Amino acid sequence: MKKISMAFMAAILTLSTTSLLAAEEASTETAQQTTAEAAVENTAASTAEEKTEEAAVEKEQTETTAEDVKDTDDTSEAVEAEADNTADEDSAVAEETEIEIEEEAEEETEAEEEEEYDEDTYGPEAPIVWTSPIEAVAFSHKIHTMDAGLDCDSCHDDLFEMEAGAAAEKDDFVMETLYEGGYCGACHDGDMAFASDTRCAACHIGVMGAKRENEEAEDAGH
Ligand code: HEC
Ligand code: HEC
Ligand code: HEC
Repeated sequence: MKKISMAFMAAILTLSTTSLLAAEEASTETAQQTTAEAAVENTAASTAEEKTEEAAVEKEQTETTAEDVKDTDDTSEAVEAEADNTADEDSAVAEETEIEIEEEAEEETEAEEEEEYDEDTYGPEAPIVWTSPIEAVAFSHKIHTMDAGLDCDSCHDDLFEMEAGAAAEKDDFVMETLYEGGYCGACHDGDMAFASDTRCAACHIGVMGAKRENEEAEDAGH
């Protein structure tokens, strides 16, 4: 008789220990669920949703077992209190995770905005302005590299040196040479780009245009 009751007690002890472990797990699952909810809110990640569902189901199962045993053992409350502490710590982690997710989302939005002009990739940003032999003609790297997609070596160094003003030192830097396919005229021939004997004002910004460019350059310098 005594032997049987010992075995019975042992069985009950084993049962309550198992359930207590389950209870601890349940609280941790709740914290994980909070993390999962935060993630779902911010990123709508489907994996997080799955996690929430799994956590909810597991939680339900373990909670029922935990309540059955709750009153049968005094140590039960102590262990549960400890489990609660763990849960609190996990919630703090969940909050941090939430903030991190928000920051990441912001960074992604910024990256999607318009591409910045990068001088290493597209050449100098400021237009090059020649004032001789006539004032004034402007050249924009952005229009030719970033917009039209030309490589540096389609102009450098066969047509132009990489030095603002170099071409203007030469006597043949005149319209006649352009019409014959030199300098800008290599492309501005009415085929690859608009012809050099049309749209004079597209290249010639005039005296006032040169004055504007100078003022802008000075403003940028200050
Ligand atoms: C469509 C023609 C064209 C293309 C393409 C081009 N450039 Fe230029 N580049 C010029 C002209 C014209 C000048 C002025 C030369 C002159 O005044 O004699 C110049 C001047 C320069 C200068 C000197 C600027 C200064 O202030 O002295 C640099 C640096 C330069 N280019 C870099 C580049 C780089 C880098 C690329 C490619 C990403 C490139 N260029 C593509 C036409 C071009
Ligand atoms: C390697 C070929 C090439 C050379 C050299 C070249 N261009 Fe261009 N340029 C183009 C192309 C391509 C376009 C874009 C297509 C178009 O507008 O016809 C363009 C466009 C332009 C435009 C824009 C016109 C508009 O739409 O408002 C200007 C201005 C211009 N070029 C000026 C010059 C000047 C000035 C020179 C010489 C200093 C020059 N280009 C040399 C190829 C060239
Ligand atoms: C593709 C660009 C471009 C176009 C288009 C263009 N020019 Fe020019 N022009 C130049 C460049 C570059 C120079 C030499 C630099 C300077 O004088 O500032 C020049 C110089 C000149 C000069 C002084 C040198 C010379 O040849 O006597 C005159 C005048 C002139 N252009 C008139 C015109 C007229 C008129 C048109 C329209 C029918 C025209 N240009 C169209 C780029 C162009």
